[in-house]
Amino acid sequence: MKILNVVGARPNFIKIAPLIREMRRHPQITPILVHTGQHYDADMAGQFFEDLEIPNPDFQLGVGAGSHAYQTAEVMKRLEPILERERPQVVVVVGDVNSTMAGALAAAKLQLSVAHVEAGLRSFDRSMPEEINRVVTDAVSDILFASEDSGVRNLMAEGVPPHKIFFVGNVMIDSLMLSHRRWIRSTIHDRLGLPKGRYGILTLHRPANVDDPDTLKGLLSAVGDIADLIPIVFPVHPRTRRHLETAGERSLFFRSQDEQAPERGLFCVPPLGYLDFMALLASARFVLTDSGGIQEETTALGVPCMTLRHNTERPVTVSHGTNRLVGVSPDAIVKEAERILRSPLSNACPPPLWDGRASRRIVDILLDRFHER
Ligand code: UD1
Ligand code: UDP
Repeated sequence: MKILNVVGARPNFIKIAPLIREMRRHPQITPILVHTGQHYDADMAGQFFEDLEIPNPDFQLGVGAGSHAYQTAEVMKRLEPILERERPQVVVVVGDVNSTMAGALAAAKLQLSVAHVEAGLRSFDRSMPEEINRVVTDAVSDILFASEDSGVRNLMAEGVPPHKIFFVGNVMIDSLMLSHRRWIRSTIHDRLGLPKGRYGILTLHRPANVDDPDTLKGLLSAVGDIADLIPIVFPVHPRTRRHLETAGERSLFFRSQDEQAPERGLFCVPPLGYLDFMALLASARFVLTDSGGIQEETTALGVPCMTLRHNTERPVTVSHGTNRLVGVSPDAIVKEAERILRSPLSNACPPPLWDGRASRRIVDILLDRFHER
């Protein structure tokens, strides 16, 4: 039974790792891995294959950066002949990036079965490129694996027949748990000179936050105020780096990973590998972020998360977890950070089925559906 898996961007690698691992436990499955090349820098791609022990891709499409239409079209063009040659029983796509949507569309047009992992999430905000990817991917998928209850409800509300929908839990949390014994040994705190429990983390990369210079400036001024109270480490995404450089943000100080952190202040480092980032996240006092995955990881780890957005497609992180939507107003962000710094830490309460076994459920369902007995 051939299962062809499509990945392209940083969060995809984290989601596919436990799935490939699970597929390889079954001799009747031949997993095929296609890397579109949407992300290509060593610290956005290669490092994740190493950290998460993902086997080398069987196919590299080398698509690289470009506009949405360019990236989507190139993935489809380059993937199509591989799909035609391999004729897998099912194509697995994960998450909500351009490579996800392009992989699903190319497969569906060839009448191949498509399984979407992390289906049904909705921010109901079509100005987010990911929301369009989610809606299109779900519309052409035959099997929809939901990570949280809202995903199931959204799909049902859109009229998806219930027999296509499976509530399986969160593969992102499988990765977090499976690699725990390795990230716990990371030396990142010593390398950065950060005392555990006494620093914050910032990540930013959503176009709505970083492509607009005024919004970016407002966010950085709020974070600068908070960084007067506690050091904040900022692993800078390449999109954000490009915009910081264009905006001439010289006040931001870039460090290598081997320079010690100051006692307070905001300091930038290059994007971190998965194991280092998980270790840093697990012992952070709080996180400021616009990432999707980090809202989930902080919920699983019980670390307070301030999401610098007005909405989330992952509402379970607010209802069950540690996530708060603080928006982008500098005053509101500073106020919430001060509140967190005054409060005791809360215990983590993992959402239903975020138990490290989502990949096993997914692969069992795929075997049941596609393996000819
Ligand atoms: C993409 C996803 C987003 C996801 C994010 C995860 C889409 C539409 N967006 O956003 O949903 O949250 O990945 O990080 O699919 N770049 C590099 N090196 C790299 C990769 C990117 O320099 O290895 C730079 C390029 O200048 C590129 C820019 O970053 O133009 C943006 O990359 P792109 O993949 O288009 O979008 P992301 O912002 O990374
Ligand atoms: N991440 C990492 N190093 C970093 C920043 C993020 O390993 O410097 C991991 C983290 O686990 C996060 C994941 O990459 O959940 C996905 O990242 P990103 O925020 O880029 O994508 P999103 O989840 O918003 O699509």
